[in-house]
Amino acid sequence: MAVSFFDVAIAVAAVVVAATIWLRLRVKLPPGPRPWPVVGNLYDIQPVRFRCFADWAARYGPIMSVWFGTTLNVVVSSSELAREVLKEKDQMLADRPRSRSAARFSRDGKDLIWADYGPHYVKVRKVCNLELFSPKRLEALRPIREDEVTAMVESILREVSRTDKNGDHLVVRNHLSGVAFNNITRLAFGKRFVSSEGVLDSHGSEFKAIVANGLKFGASLSLAEYVSWLQWMFPLDEEAYAKHGARRDRLTRAIMEEHSQARKKSGARQHFVDALITLQEKYDLSEDTIIGLLWDMITAGMDTTVISVEWAMAELVRNPGVQEKAQEELDRVVGRDRVMTEADFPNLPYLQCVVKESLRLHPPTPLMLPHKASTKVKIGGYDIPKGSNVHVNVWAIARDPAMWKDPLKFAPERFEEEDIDIRGHDFRVLPFGAGRRVCPGAQLGINLVQSMLGHLLHHFRWRLPEGVSVGEVDMMENPGMVAFMHTPLQAVATPRLPEHLYKRLPVDM
Ligand code: HEM
Repeated sequence: MAVSFFDVAIAVAAVVVAATIWLRLRVKLPPGPRPWPVVGNLYDIQPVRFRCFADWAARYGPIMSVWFGTTLNVVVSSSELAREVLKEKDQMLADRPRSRSAARFSRDGKDLIWADYGPHYVKVRKVCNLELFSPKRLEALRPIREDEVTAMVESILREVSRTDKNGDHLVVRNHLSGVAFNNITRLAFGKRFVSSEGVLDSHGSEFKAIVANGLKFGASLSLAEYVSWLQWMFPLDEEAYAKHGARRDRLTRAIMEEHSQARKKSGARQHFVDALITLQEKYDLSEDTIIGLLWDMITAGMDTTVISVEWAMAELVRNPGVQEKAQEELDRVVGRDRVMTEADFPNLPYLQCVVKESLRLHPPTPLMLPHKASTKVKIGGYDIPKGSNVHVNVWAIARDPAMWKDPLKFAPERFEEEDIDIRGHDFRVLPFGAGRRVCPGAQLGINLVQSMLGHLLHHFRWRLPEGVSVGEVDMMENPGMVAFMHTPLQAVATPRLPEHLYKRLPVDM
């Protein structure tokens, strides 16, 4: 008897339905929207995922089951459950689900971001905590940050002098991207790929091409990602991945070689690439791991800082009172005859509150990065099977009216009233996550964001373009793992300091 495709499809569907019923009877999963056979809830999820999950949480509760194909995703949306996931049951929930594309990029988790929790992870994380992100190294790399942030001020003034004759606006993100790019590439690779005139050198153009090419592979919500037995129907372009990986390795090795040569002449420097080559033996790091780590910094550090500052600026042009208060503080503490430095931070508590409040309302990774259960575990009294993905909706938690007064109001003063640590110690506001996978770059990220924002506010007064009202600023996010503003912020900048303070302060390191 011939077996048709139809027979096979029916048989497969029957098995899936039977397995689902069996699973339901045996284990008590969190509630959630009704999943369809095979596809689960995949086609019900709205593009801006964390907003969709927040809406669903209002209906199904603070812990939900959402099925991406046949993969169970548990989404938690309360501070209490975030504590359970990231503190109490932390170790059992510290693996990472890797899409096929993340698996290729990370050589199956030989880096940090995509590594499962285990001996490799513990080792690499130790390198990060003790070596790369130590307060000492952070301080040693400070001149790079101050160089780049003053370069940003100079580039904004250049654009303002060109266009502002009749109140023209500029696209804020264009300027932020430059600082973030130069900062993170110099920190990680020890190279400023861009000349002062904005021209990329040959390594720089190769670098940008690799980043752009990497984005093309991107993360997707495609069915094949979540239904393993469908993957044969949607094979990956393995050749393209291999080519991309080889190109990335070639460039990184060339840069590493340059550093090895320079080190022989003038000793090791502070950049991550030098640190990792020096520490390679001590920590037994493979070349794949070194390359993976360097590129992790680009992936994790660049967009997140741009996004943080752009949202903060959006709030500041919508809330002129807050902007003025921050500027008064800068004028009082820094004055108008020098530029701000990171040494001023402790004396700028209001600026710090503005950064905290902005990261509360606009965490750049609203669902953090996904975690995965390495064993079966109970959360909120529900059974979470081994292998389930777990997401913490930090965006929703930070807007929970049960936790925050006027949660949607941009009010930095709330952080004056209560001293809250946003680096993973207070489960009401978790822009950097918490627990063993908390962002290792949190302090660096805060310094960068605070420094960029401080300079933007000290050097310029910002307002919305002529004829645009506060209500017209598009405060929606783009879909994706990171939450860029859907419409790039446009604003008019007016210089407020003496002209000689707008020059880049370059350092050669
Ligand atoms: C405002 C800026 C930033 C924010 C909001 C942010 C946020 C986060 C979050 C939410 C995670 C995931 C935590 C988890 O899975 O539980 C993370 C992981 C990570 N971040 Fe950041 N980050 C920022 C800046 C940076 C910077 C500047 C760097 C480095 C240059 C960095 C490096 C990393 C790395 C390597 C990981 C992976 C950690 C792991 O898997 O163990 N981040 N970050």
